[in-house]
Order: sequence, then structure tokens, then C-alpha cells
Amino acid sequence: MSSRTASIGITLAVALGGCAGNGDGLDQNGRPIDGDGNGTPLTADFQSIQDHVFTPICAACHAGAAAPLGLRLDEGASFAMLVNAPSVEVAALARVTPGNPDASYLIAKLEGTAAVGERMPLGGPALPQSDIDIIREWIRAGAQPTAAAAASAKPVVLNAVTPLPDEVVAPGDLVLLVSASGELDTSLLTGNAVTLIRSGGDGRFDDGNDIAIDTLAVEVRSLAPTVFAVHVPGAQVAIDHYRLVVAGSGPAPLADRDARVIDGDADGRAGGDFQLEFDVEAQP
Ligand code: HEC
Repeated sequence: MSSRTASIGITLAVALGGCAGNGDGLDQNGRPIDGDGNGTPLTADFQSIQDHVFTPICAACHAGAAAPLGLRLDEGASFAMLVNAPSVEVAALARVTPGNPDASYLIAKLEGTAAVGERMPLGGPALPQSDIDIIREWIRAGAQPTAAAAASAKPVVLNAVTPLPDEVVAPGDLVLLVSASGELDTSLLTGNAVTLIRSGGDGRFDDGNDIAIDTLAVEVRSLAPTVFAVHVPGAQVAIDHYRLVVAGSGPAPLADRDARVIDGDADGRAGGDFQLEFDVEAQP
């Protein structure tokens, strides 16, 4: 047993020594980037970019409800926040445009060529160009998610990306971003399956005065796994308590590409509604 441990130690030392020697692959503290701790180099795969860049370097700031410009790069949120999602600073550009790194604001921010704001990571040394080139390669190849999620036999569950449950958001146009753990039958993403209500001012639902918001537009941002955005025009958005419901039960349940009903309430079995409650409040 001790000889096995020793040989692993030597392998690691050689691999890390190679990185440090040419100055590439260092994190903001000057340590070799090895976010998943297993000595693998950064590759043009989304999970690898998450483990080597987003989690160890970016999520220090870009996480949770207070993430700068709403951009969360923590695991689970980052894909939906980037791919086909408009940049806040330069709204004409998506943060990541699949197939086109030069039209991806993420790359402009990493290379320091963005029209607005600072080079990322803010306050830390820039990523080596060799690492940025690997992220460019992931985008050029179509900005695919990591394959692992797709093969799962479990029914698809949904996750609120933004707002988070019970988050307070400002009035104005709303974009509610939801990601799925697999590929949905997006033809079912209609007003039958997706509804938004507000409480009628009393903060309570199902007491007779709820108000349905009926001008929702659903935009599919990524297919496998599916990420969709529900757009609500600001004119429909009053100060109130809101509930988004995506049906996994009733007459029009949402289903995956293989016609299996989603596990909306995430209890491990197909069926049940996905619900997300949040508040719209005037902000100081
Ligand atoms: C120390 C905190 C901090 C760190 C670390 C950080 N950022 Fe940022 N990021 C910000 C702030 C603040 C802004 C807005 C101001 C600006 O752009 O300079 C921002 C803006 C952005 C934007 C623009 C978003 C938009 O919608 O316009 C992108 C893209 C971005 N960051 C990516 C990253 C990436 C990728 C990393 C990691 C390599 C990273 N950031 C690390 C604080 C940080």
C-alpha cells in the first residue's frame, strides 16, 4: 500500500512541475490550475472548464443572488447563465454564442477586449492565453454541455437558475431562467404547461384573488440539457409575490424527449409540479 501511494505522488509532482515551468495554467494565487484535484489538464469540455476555471477562480465573486450582473458561474448555474444568454454590459452580444468565440462576450472579458468594464478575473492575473484558447475551442465546437447528464435513467428535474427561490427582484421586464437535467420535449413548453401567477397583494396563493400573468413568452436557449427562459414584459410586473409553475401533472404535463413526464417536485419519481416563488419589490 505504501509503495502505491508513493508512485501516485511522483506522477503528480511531474505533471504539476510541467505546468509551473512554463507559467501556464496558474490560478490567481499562482498555483497550477487543477480544480478537480486529480492532476488532469484543462480540456475543451464544459465540466473541465467548470472544474479548472469557473469554480476555483470565478465563483469567488460570480455566485449566489449577489453575483455581479446576475452572472453565476458556480456549478449547476454556469451553463444556463452563459450559453445563448445575453450579456448585461453589451446586450447585443451573447455571453457564449455556440460556434463563434469571437461573438462571445465571455471571451472578450477574458482577453481584455470588452467594450465595458475590466478584464476578468477582476483583480487577479489574467488566464494564460493557452487556457483561453481551450475555452475558445469549446465554444467553436458548439458549446456543448458535458455528456454525463444525458444518459441518466432518472426522470428529468428542473432547477431555477434565476431568480433563485425566494429571491427579491426589481420591477421591470423579467427573465425567469430554468434549467433541466435532461432534454425536454420543447414543443410542450407552452402556456398550458408554464404558468405564472401573483398573489393579488396579500402574499398568499389559492385564496381566490390570485392574478394570472398571461403574456409569457418561452424562449429555448439550449436543447440537451434544456435551458429555457420565461420572459414577462415589465408592463405585466407589479410589486407582489409570484409563483412560476411548470406542470408535471394535470392535463398538460411537461415531458422529456422520450415522452416521459418530468419529476417536477424532485421527489425521485415522475410527476408533480415544479414551483418557483419569488418577490418583486421596488429596490433602493
Ligand atoms: C473579484 C470579483 C470577480 C471575479 C473573481 C471575477 N469577476 Fe467577472 N465580474 C465582476 C464584476 C464586478 C463585473 C462587472 C464589472 C466589470 O465588468 O468590470 C464582472 C463582469 C463579468 C462579465 C460580464 C457579464 C455581462 O453579462 O456583461 C463576465 C462575462 C465575467 N465577469 C466573467 C468572469 C469570469 C469568466 C471570471 C473568472 C475567470 C470572473 N468573471 C471573475 C467581478 C468578478
